[in-house]
Amino acid sequence: MQRSRPNGIVIAIDGPSGAGKSTIARMLAEQLDYIQIDTGAMYRAAAFMLSSADVDLLDLEAVSSFCNDLEIKLESDSGKQVVLANGLDVTKLIRTPEMSLITSRISTIKPVRDAMLKAQQKLGAKGGVVLEGRDIGTVVFPDAEMKFYLNASVEERARRRCEELNNKGEQVTLEQTVINVAQRDRQDSERDISPLRQADDAILIDSSKLTAEEVLSVITAFCKEKVKNMVVKL
Ligand code: DC
Repeated sequence: MQRSRPNGIVIAIDGPSGAGKSTIARMLAEQLDYIQIDTGAMYRAAAFMLSSADVDLLDLEAVSSFCNDLEIKLESDSGKQVVLANGLDVTKLIRTPEMSLITSRISTIKPVRDAMLKAQQKLGAKGGVVLEGRDIGTVVFPDAEMKFYLNASVEERARRRCEELNNKGEQVTLEQTVINVAQRDRQDSERDISPLRQADDAILIDSSKLTAEEVLSVITAFCKEKVKNMVVKL
C-alpha cells in the first residue's frame, strides 16, 4: 500500500562507510530540492553524547531514557551540514576516526537503534527526503520508492576517507585507514540488529571507478521516473 507523502518520495541510499553516500545524498537532495537526512550523523551524535555523559552502556534502561530524551537536529549552514545535539554543536567532534569506531560499536545497542529509528521515520514521514545510512532500505523505510546500495572496494573507500581526513588537517595514514574501514565494515555488517545489508529491491552501484557526478547521473536517471516534475539542474 502506498503511503501518502505530501512532500515527495523517499529515496534511500545505503552502503558501507566511504562509499560516497554523503556526497551523493547532498547533491541529489540539492538537485531535487529535497531534505538530506544523514542517519550516520545521528548515530554519531548519539554516541558522542552517551560517551560524554558517561552513561553506563550495559544499563539498557538508562541508555534508552537518555536516547529518547536526546534532541538531534541536522541543519545546513551555507550548504554545510551542522549537527546539534541538545543544542550543542557537535559537527566537528563527531567526525574523528576514534568517534567513527565508537559510533559503530554504540550503534549495535538496541535502545540506541530504537530511538534513532523512531526519529528517522518521523523526519522522513512526509517524503521529499534523501536518507543515507546502513539500514534505510531494509528497516527504516522498507517501503521507500527508490533504494540504492552504494558500494566501492575497501581500498578505494579507505583512500577517499584518508584524503578527506588529511584535507581536514588530521594526520592519518592509508594503512591505518584501511584497517579502520575494514573493522567498521565488520562491525556494521555482523551486528545482530539491522546489519548493513543491501535490500532485495535496491539498485546496486559500485562507485570504485566512478566520479561523484557519474554516480549522481546514474541515480538521477533512475529517479526521473518516480519524481514528479523533476527538474534536473546541470
Ligand atoms: O555513515 P557514518 O560513517 O557516518 O556512520 C557512522 C556509524 O553509524 C556506522 O559505522 C554505523 C552507524 N550507522 C548505523 O548503524 N545505521 C545507519 N543507518 C547509519 C549509521
